[in-house]
Amino acid sequence: MIVNKKNICMSVYNTIISRRSIRRFKNKPIKIEILKKLINAARLAPSGANLQVLEYIVVFDKYLCSKIFDTIGWAGYIKPTWKPFEEERPTSYIIVLTNDIENKYYLRDVGLATENILLTAESENIGSCILCNINRDEIRKFLDISDSLYIDSVIALGYKGEQPVIENMKDSVEYWRDENKVLHVPKRSLKDIIHINKFSKT
Ligand SMILES: Cc1cc2nc3c(=O)[nH]c(=O)nc-3n(C[C@H](O)[C@H](O)[C@H](O)COP(=O)(O)O)c2cc1C
Repeated sequence: MIVNKKNICMSVYNTIISRRSIRRFKNKPIKIEILKKLINAARLAPSGANLQVLEYIVVFDKYLCSKIFDTIGWAGYIKPTWKPFEEERPTSYIIVLTNDIENKYYLRDVGLATENILLTAESENIGSCILCNINRDEIRKFLDISDSLYIDSVIALGYKGEQPVIENMKDSVEYWRDENKVLHVPKRSLKDIIHINKFSKT
């Protein structure tokens, strides 16, 4: 069991199902100890051949956060183009780097390490969003990232300023915001993805 900030015990499963990508945040900083805890969770993730090819930059400096914000493409399905209001921006970011882009398992490592970060954040009541629609050249420049490292992704972090809801997917994967700005996220149903004992075509 994981005990969150409100002293609520969360099973790993509950943490998994309650996590949603959060793109609107409260203007409240995350303590460095918690940010370090997120990286520690990433450090301990499974790794192909245990090569551990990932490194992380934790950013909470206000100026650098605003520079990173300007490189991000938010919620591509929301039209017209949308981004969080100034007061709803993430308060921290984690930049996920690899020192071996040729490593054939590196993307699996990223997935596993990133999910550890997201779930640990969720257990602390912190919202997160993986971002791959980013301007890597710009981020490299202002964070002084050496050419020997590939920038895989950015994880936006902050205390939650929204609570998206899951919908049963009908005919589109596209999430949407309703008139109250609540984000609705379609997910395929269990019966559509599960096959018992043998592959069943339905
Ligand atoms: C590899 C990957 C890249 C993503 N890139 C972006 C992105 O650039 N911008 C964004 O707003 N969300 C991004 N997301 C978040 C997805 O849109 C989100 O995970 C998806 O809509 C499902 O919602 P959920 O995370 O709440 O389950 C990304 C997610 C993944 C796994």
